[in-house]
Amino acid sequence: MQEAFVRGSRPVGLDALETGLSWPTIDSLVRTMAARHAATHRHARRVQCYALALAQENEILDVDLVEAIREGALLHDIGKLGIPDRLLCKPGPLTPREYEVVKQHAVLGADILAALACSGALTLIVRHHHENWDGSGYPDGLCGEAIPVGARVLSIVDCYDALTSDRPYRRELSHHDAVAMICERRGTMYDPRMVDAFLRTMRGVIDAPVTGHGAEARTSDVGAQHSNALWMSEGAAL
Ligand SMILES: [Fe+2]
Ligand SMILES: [Fe+2]
Repeated sequence: MQEAFVRGSRPVGLDALETGLSWPTIDSLVRTMAARHAATHRHARRVQCYALALAQENEILDVDLVEAIREGALLHDIGKLGIPDRLLCKPGPLTPREYEVVKQHAVLGADILAALACSGALTLIVRHHHENWDGSGYPDGLCGEAIPVGARVLSIVDCYDALTSDRPYRRELSHHDAVAMICERRGTMYDPRMVDAFLRTMRGVIDAPVTGHGAEARTSDVGAQHSNALWMSEGAAL
């Protein structure tokens, strides 16, 4: 089943990707991640679907950029291959020191792809997928439109999937609660326009509409349930 899923994921007509990675190389990296961390692999596949939908909603038409988003979504956490399992699978919040180690996966992933001579666009998406709109993210503290647009696409859908998935230290959140948390961080963690586009892509997924500013009432409830400490742990788990 898993193998069929991996094989069936081959993008049509992409023997020579604009991202610079050949299909066998991508396939090898994906298989490595699937063998090491099946849950992270499944997360990446879902993130890829969400990211492409969000890219389309944002009318991102540049073929090279779309391919970089497609492959970046699939490989964004490839750097976790270099992070100890005891941290990735820890059934509780990370200590600040452990969190610093896990954060290294963004740079490790970018370095892996750079060593394979992939495109700069793909490398940058992987390196910057945990940057925040207000500059509070990592690894470089980029802010606003200095963050590559592909990384801004990825950061929202990456978070959404992490929130709506079971983690070793907590159960999955509902669509409503996950969307409300993302809305709460519109303009701080996330590009406001990207959040608005994300909400449009979510229509029909959640059981009632949640809008960027209308979500505030629900957001306060969610905020009461999820402390900043939890959010920090969440960031480490993405
Ligand atoms: Fe990540
Ligand atoms: Fe992720």
